[in-house]
Amino acid sequence: MSDKIFELKNVSFYYLDKFPALREINLYVEPGEKIVLLGANGSGKSTLLHILDGLLFPQEGNIQFFNQAINENSFNDEKFNAFFRKRVAFLFQNPDIQLFSSTVKDDIAFAPLQLDMSADEVNKRVDEVMKFMRIEHLKERAPHQLSLGEKKKVSIGTVLSFNPDVLLLDEPTAGLDPRSVREVVDLIIEANESGKTIITATHDLHIVSEIADRVYVLNDEKRIAASDSTKNILMNEDLLHKTNLIHIHEHVHEDLWHTHTHAHHDLHEHEH
Ligand SMILES: Nc1ncnc2c1ncn2[C@@H]1O[C@H](COP(=O)(O)OP(=O)(O)OP(=O)(O)O)[C@@H](O)[C@H]1O
Ligand SMILES: [Mg+2]
Repeated sequence: MSDKIFELKNVSFYYLDKFPALREINLYVEPGEKIVLLGANGSGKSTLLHILDGLLFPQEGNIQFFNQAINENSFNDEKFNAFFRKRVAFLFQNPDIQLFSSTVKDDIAFAPLQLDMSADEVNKRVDEVMKFMRIEHLKERAPHQLSLGEKKKVSIGTVLSFNPDVLLLDEPTAGLDPRSVREVVDLIIEANESGKTIITATHDLHIVSEIADRVYVLNDEKRIAASDSTKNILMNEDLLHKTNLIHIHEHVHEDLWHTHTHAHHDLHEHEH
């Protein structure tokens, strides 16, 4: 029996049955991995994450979650639905889709309340998450009145609040200032070190070396152009040019593979 969390075979998806968004995707994710879906705008990253979260179903190919097929019917089975939804959390690219309550506190409490936690436990969890994300001062604010970066942090809080095993993160650092980007990258590293599986869609090459063990690169044809270790992907300038992740006239100033790794090691040395 395979111990893969997700396995996709020849998955193709077309919006409205005519606009191609993914073509013949083959992909797997094992427990505890950090995976990046890397691709330029419109390459299909968000669509792929929606498919992994069971929000869209492909016209072609098949998907398995722990060896169980995911399709339109699987989520009608309450047992499977609960099994899946307790384990998998999705951070939407657009925080306005994630946030729907009248206060930040209520949005963060929403998922824990679905898990039959006591009121005290929920309050404790909400306070922990807000402290962790440094959003305590936003507790009573209306989510739709926040800045984009604030919304993004609150959205991440809603995803962390029920302690899922698998995190699907769609552009978690987009719109954040440098300190907040650093915090989100550290959060991904720490969550992964605590055993969570994390799949992140991004086109930000500077964070990839820290948040991925393996990378799938999507191209303009909505196909997987390459799948390899993070190091091999980031050192393949030709691939990064061809997939519009580095501009053709741009000189690569930095060694992308080494951009952040030392910072992470330093952090750990200080901790011990
Ligand atoms: N609701 C929709 N209806 C029709 N086509 C869509 C829809 N959403 C996305 N697409 C198309 O599907 C393709 C993949 O889009 P997707 O949003 O998955 O890309 P992405 O890699 O996440 O891009 P970005 O980096 O801009 O977020 C694009 O060509 C897009 O135009
Ligand atoms: Mg997207």
